[in-house]
Amino acid sequence: MTDRASVAILISGRGSNMQSLVRATQVPGFPARIVGVISNKPDAAGLDFARSLGLPTAVVQLKSHPDKDAADAAITRQLEDWGAEWVCLAGFMRVLSAGFTRRWQGRLLNIHPSLLPKYKGLDTHQRALDAGDTEHGCTVHQVIPELDEGPVISQVRVPIFPGDDAETLAARVLIEEHKLYPAALAKAIRESRSGD
Ligand code: GAR
Repeated sequence: MTDRASVAILISGRGSNMQSLVRATQVPGFPARIVGVISNKPDAAGLDFARSLGLPTAVVQLKSHPDKDAADAAITRQLEDWGAEWVCLAGFMRVLSAGFTRRWQGRLLNIHPSLLPKYKGLDTHQRALDAGDTEHGCTVHQVIPELDEGPVISQVRVPIFPGDDAETLAARVLIEEHKLYPAALAKAIRESRSGD
């Protein structure tokens, strides 16, 4: 298939969601290919996985630029150099500028470990436990300038069991994240094409 969408992935750490996206693109018929991985942390473990597959990688650190707009412009330049059409945030733990989100709006996705609109921001698993929730989950959504808002593409629910702590719950959610993100990316790409 030659008309696969070109997708870049932004990470900050472990990169397990990035790995699940990369693996999905190796399945025949998946409508995307990965053109590169950018991290804002030079020591992100996910970079090693990307390099081991021969994927292009780049590090763009905020501290190497005068401000966030300049750092985000550098990310956009790298994405454009790679010919990226879509951008997947996969554990990218820095809030991107409004200019960046506008530049990529409609083709900029994020995965968040909660059932949005519940628990935007950090510590989502502990907050679900503290609230006494009986279910939790993860969401893939379009990114807009407002943090963890933007149209939801797909969500998966998981049960919260008595005795769960943030670690057991995070592990249960992560298993679902790894299935959800590739499916949501494929869905978003196919929907964008059906509207062409
Ligand atoms: C994932 O659980 C992801 O949903 C979360 O960070 C983790 C990254 O893990 N993202 C956020 O909290 C974004 N607000 P990974 O690096 O192994 O994919």
